[in-house]
Amino acid sequence: MSLGGARERDARGTRLSCIRGAALALCLFAGPAAAAEMTLKAAAASSGRYFGAALDSGDFDEKPYVRLATEELSAVTPENAMKWAVVEPARGVFDWRAADRLFAFAQANGQKIRGHTLVWHQQLPAWLTGGTFAPAELRQLMIDHVTLEASRYRGADYAWDVVNEPFADDGAWRPSIWLQAMGPDYVETALRAARAADPQAKLYINDYNVESAGPKMRALYELAASLKRKGAPLDGVGFESHLVAGSPLGDMREVMQAFADLGVDVAVTELDLRIKTPPDAKALDTQAADYAKVIGACVAVKECVGVSTWGVTDAHSWTPFFFAGYGAALPFDESYQPKPAFFAAIDALTRAERQ
Ligand code: G3I
Repeated sequence: MSLGGARERDARGTRLSCIRGAALALCLFAGPAAAAEMTLKAAAASSGRYFGAALDSGDFDEKPYVRLATEELSAVTPENAMKWAVVEPARGVFDWRAADRLFAFAQANGQKIRGHTLVWHQQLPAWLTGGTFAPAELRQLMIDHVTLEASRYRGADYAWDVVNEPFADDGAWRPSIWLQAMGPDYVETALRAARAADPQAKLYINDYNVESAGPKMRALYELAASLKRKGAPLDGVGFESHLVAGSPLGDMREVMQAFADLGVDVAVTELDLRIKTPPDAKALDTQAADYAKVIGACVAVKECVGVSTWGVTDAHSWTPFFFAGYGAALPFDESYQPKPAFFAAIDALTRAERQ
């Protein structure tokens, strides 16, 4: 399958992209040739940021996928390969093949790696969730897991999502085996174990539905503030940004800035904007405008270090499987062609440089 189409390097194709895409301003500003050459990673680099995506090494036998992942991305997040259920399916039996493959891919391409995720309530191995463990034993299991995984990739990864999704939507602590065993202190314990194992990596807490002010965002803010007050090793807060196109996103910049003012980096870590499928032109334009809003919010916050999407193309997105009737959430379509969202992303990423 060709990657050509709208991004073929002939002038006609480029002009068509500019007209079809939402980033007409970019085309006018930079000219068609520049737009044709522009990649997401180059656009992000223009303001010192990375552009990343979640990848699955199971898709590496698809040449167009690999080509997009290589050409467009300066950061990689393993979509599933580093989760506990994958790396330790039976107690004491480890399988690092998928994670190692992603690391090798990213390193060969000079891409940053965002390790994902050390402590979460999902994708835990059955031996762990089905076992009977005393609280002290669970605490030690968690520390050992964080230590083992973070040490294995010590110095190789740029960041870790150390704790993933600690809050429910109402701002209450999310029930999990970790909360049950240790109470909220599990977060600090995990961060300290990760720092000891991989001292150079940026350590993040990552969550969704925290992009606008609300109870969950406030709970995360209070947690981040209290961890910073205690001197716990928290370096960043990730805003997953699994969003429905067309929903209000008015205060994302202010929210990210409020976190950044606590003394942490912020990042958009899992961006996708789902729309009804099959998508029509209007929905694709709405989606493009929202890509620009989210990326624009990041670019407007000095401490926002980069944007990652959750997948690269609509052929590799979790959204249709989890949200019936919705999908088409990424900047490239199922045929690997750039969508209006791609051009809007390029435009938003380069806006800071143009202002
Ligand atoms: O690997 C098995 C395969 O052997 C089996 O045949 C198949 C049958 O269902 O399932 C496969 O596992 C699936 C796995 O993805 C790998 O494809 C699981 O069922 C499925 O639940 C799992 O979904 C992942 C989900 O996390 C789990 O909650 C998605 O791919 C992944 O995109 C998603 O990622 C999360 C982030 O880690 C955290 N933030 C939210 C984000 C989206 O939910």
